[in-house]
Parts: sequence; C-alpha cells; structure tokens
Amino acid sequence: MKRRILLLSALALLGASTMPAFAAEKKIVVKIAGMKPEGEPETIGMKLFAKYVMEGTKGKYDVRVFPNSQLGKEDAYIAQTRKGIIQMCATGTQTSSLFPAMAMLETPMLYDSLEHAHKAMNGETFKLINKGFAEKSGLTMLNAFPLGFRHFYTKKPISSVNDLKGLRMRVPNIPLYLEFAKQLGQSGQPMPFAEVPAALDQGTIDGGDSPFSDIVALKMYEIAPNITLSGHILVIHSLYINNDFYNKLPPEDRKVFDDAAKRSAEDVWKMAADVEKKAVEEITKGGGKIVTPNAEFKAALKKAGEGTWKLFYDTVPNAKEILESVKQYQ
Ligand code: G3P
Repeated sequence: MKRRILLLSALALLGASTMPAFAAEKKIVVKIAGMKPEGEPETIGMKLFAKYVMEGTKGKYDVRVFPNSQLGKEDAYIAQTRKGIIQMCATGTQTSSLFPAMAMLETPMLYDSLEHAHKAMNGETFKLINKGFAEKSGLTMLNAFPLGFRHFYTKKPISSVNDLKGLRMRVPNIPLYLEFAKQLGQSGQPMPFAEVPAALDQGTIDGGDSPFSDIVALKMYEIAPNITLSGHILVIHSLYINNDFYNKLPPEDRKVFDDAAKRSAEDVWKMAADVEKKAVEEITKGGGKIVTPNAEFKAALKKAGEGTWKLFYDTVPNAKEILESVKQYQ
C-alpha cells in the first residue's frame, strides 16, 4: 500500500513539473516582421491580426510581431519569409522585384479617394494584381490596407513642379518610385525606409515623399518642414505569408488566418482618414507648413504619375486589364 502511494505521488509530481512545459511547447510560433514604428497603421494592422489569430484559435498559435525593422530591413525580412525562417511579414511594393504587377498596388495618380481605393482592393483590381504572385514568389498575399497618400516633405518651400527639379529626394528602392522621381526631374536617392532619418539629419537628401503616418512618426517635419499635399501615391501594404507554412495549416486554422487578415485590414481602412486628420494637427503644431498645390502643379503631377504607367505596360502582361478594373469603383 505504502509503495503504491509513493508511486502515485511521484507520478503526480512528474505530471506537475512536465505539463506546463509540454503545453507551452505545443503553441505554434508565428513571427511577423514589419518596417514601420509603433503606432503606425502597418504595426497596428499586424498586432490586430495577431490578436485575432490567437483569439480565433484559442491560443494554439503564438503570433509574435516585430515592427520597426527589428528583424532587418524590408528586403532582408521578405527573404527570410520566403525561406521560411520567419512565417510572415508586412510590406508594400517591394514585392514587385519578385512579381512586377505588385507595383500596381501603388499606381500613381490612380485613385480619387480612399474609398475608391478601398473598393478596388476589396474587388477585382486586387485579384487581378495578385494573379500568379504566389506561384512566382513563394508567398501568399493575405490582404491590402492603406498607410495613407504620399506627400512631399522638403527643406525648401515648393510652389510648382519646377521647384522639385534637381532635388535629392529619397525614394524607396523600387523601380516605380525611381521612375516617378525621373518623370518629375528629381534626383531620386534610393534607400530603405529605416535609413531616412539619418539621411535627413546628415543632409544627404533634400526631402522625400511619405504618407502622413511616417512624416509624423519620424518627425520629418522638424528637418524638412515644407509639406506639399500632393497625394500622388496611396501606399498599400499587405500581410504576406510563407506558402509552405500557409498550405500546411489545417483548413480550419487557415480560415482563421484568412479572416483575421481581412478583419485587421478593414480596421486599418476605417482608421485611415482619422490618421490623416490628426497628422495635419500634429505637423502644424510642430512647426510644419502644409501647402496645397495649385491646379497647374496638380496637372504636372498627374502627367508625371501617368508617365510611370509605361513601366506597367512594359512589364505586366495584364496591366491594361488592371487599370481598366479600377474605373468601376469610382
Ligand atoms: O509600398 C512601398 C512603400 O512601403 C515604400 O515606401 O517609404 O515605406 O519605404 P517607404
């Protein structure tokens, strides 16, 4: 009898010490890398996605979010996601180096409003851009959400398109952006997002273009206080997931991932207009000067923006169909 009690107590002890560790090991870790700082729409979107997946699977997945280039700059973490070193990332048209159609997510001067873009991204346009991407890239694009319209920030005041000519303007290292800078007569300086504050500080650039969320988060207006409300490109970022990981998810879990991606993107679309309004207040309070371009300036931007579309006709087989599809959502 005594031996049996001892044996049962030993088993109970063993259970107590091994169970929690076993439970912790069972969680499947999902790492998501992003490039934007805390508080920006991209980071908010990643965190909401993580929350929805963890809730929807009752904690089966431990979704860890690494914003602000913590796992490396955008090109590095996209490569890590493709290799399966991490499972997911958030990024924008950097993926056009894998599949040129992805640049069309950010076609310059295309959308009349956020609402117009929202409908196109929830409809045919998104599907047409995405067609064939997964097979070529090893990644699946789960959603599309806005970071805001890009505006120019410059050290010197800008009142016409001529004032932009020759300026050393930072651009993301993406052919579309280099082409747009060329169309405007700027000297495009390609560099990753994380290098912008130092470049502004050291004076290696005269300005650049970014959505308000970036201009505010990095306080760009402190060094380049002239903000020209050009709104020439709507920045669209997406959550991307490694194909092998995604395709091996049990169907019920894959559905939770899909739904969480859609729901978090919708949350970001809803907050986009508000982000813009708050940013205007903060920039103005911080000494930035926001100027709306006149009709002539706007026409020049439209011409330059549409000038970049040649790139799409040259590299994207269904470019015309994609551009046509946007009209139905006007
Ligand atoms: O979608 C591309 C966009 O993210 C690049 O812009 O300024 O965030 O590097 P930026």
